Amino acid sequence: MVATPLKNDRFLRALLKQAVDTTPIWIMRQAGRYLPEYRATRQQAGSFMDLCRNPELACEVTLQPLERFDLDAAILFSDILTVPDAMGLGLYFSEGEGPRFERPVQTRAAIEALPIPDPEDELRYVMDAVRTIRAALNGRVPLIGFSGSPWTLATYMVEGSSSKEFAKIKGMMYSDPATLHLLLDKLASSVTAYLNAQIAAGAQAVMIFDTWGGSLTPTTYREFSLAYMQRIVEGLTRQYEGQTIPVILFTKGGAQWLESMAATGCDGLGLDWTINIAEAYARVGQQVALQGNMDPCVLYATPEAIRAQVKQIVTDFGQPSGHVFNLGHGIHQHIRPENVKVLVDAVHEFGRKA
Ligand code: CP3
Repeated sequence: MVATPLKNDRFLRALLKQAVDTTPIWIMRQAGRYLPEYRATRQQAGSFMDLCRNPELACEVTLQPLERFDLDAAILFSDILTVPDAMGLGLYFSEGEGPRFERPVQTRAAIEALPIPDPEDELRYVMDAVRTIRAALNGRVPLIGFSGSPWTLATYMVEGSSSKEFAKIKGMMYSDPATLHLLLDKLASSVTAYLNAQIAAGAQAVMIFDTWGGSLTPTTYREFSLAYMQRIVEGLTRQYEGQTIPVILFTKGGAQWLESMAATGCDGLGLDWTINIAEAYARVGQQVALQGNMDPCVLYATPEAIRAQVKQIVTDFGQPSGHVFNLGHGIHQHIRPENVKVLVDAVHEFGRKA
């Protein structure tokens, strides 16, 4: 297959620190409940997982934010929890309660029995969505694939749902680390195969979401989260059909560990809003590109306040390339879409290079 050349490649160029005309932007959870057209398609699909499992509808919602806003990348519409679901845990979403598993894994025997899913079999619906979206984009902007980090996936698999204290998984980590390592090892193999299959299906960059890495101590972060992300980075297809496939790592709450994250050999680091981007640049900006890092709550403010915050971040970064603008975490469901347009246009205005 000869790929259609990209009409807008500033997202990929910024990740590789090549010259750009202006700062690119995409938004975590850009296809989501803050958009009325998303809510309509989700209702038509039935449930959130029915939407993920239907490649045509997943493609439709992936493209919705691009119709409204001048975004520089599309992100596959799916969820990080598709991988544990494919390992047999039985994912479901109950209204207002977030994700849940019918069969959490809490014993050595349950973890030993877990299979490593074949991405083109149990997760074929995700690969079909990647292929459908890539064809529909027709070179408009690059398509980002993604996965959860082994640690973040393991938190849901052991706890059985979202958690605040991580009592069960941390209990296992401190009392029986070998069993947790067995789970993380299987997840690292599963995620590597899953991301490589997304790349083969058409993903042009990939991002690893380590949403709960920031709940760890410096020592346990290295041993139970970073080490497995490093293994994934080392196992990924980095060149595909003549193109470099950039890899972005995002540990929410991980600003104190940027140096060791950059040392994994990834291309970009996602930043939450707890660090100034100028400080992040001073620490790791020679090695990696930076993605972020506006507080999502700025979008509850006035257009003038949104523009001022964008200007501040772009000015603080202050370099000719190497910055992908984003929020520090996913967009909230009660944000007004008009404010997102203000954000996207302000990034392109203030990010313009002389
Ligand atoms: O960024 C995008 O637009 C791509 C789609 C995407 C979704 N989830 C869609 C989604 C991505 C990249 C994710 C990743 C994800 N999923 C993460 C890591 C990123 C992060 O936010 O930290 C995590 C922890 C999950 C697990 C998950 N899935 C949660 C906690 C929830 C929210 C549950 C709730 O009721 O609030 C989901 C559901 C989910 N994933 C929604 C979307 C748009 C909302 C579901 C709906 O439509 O009802």
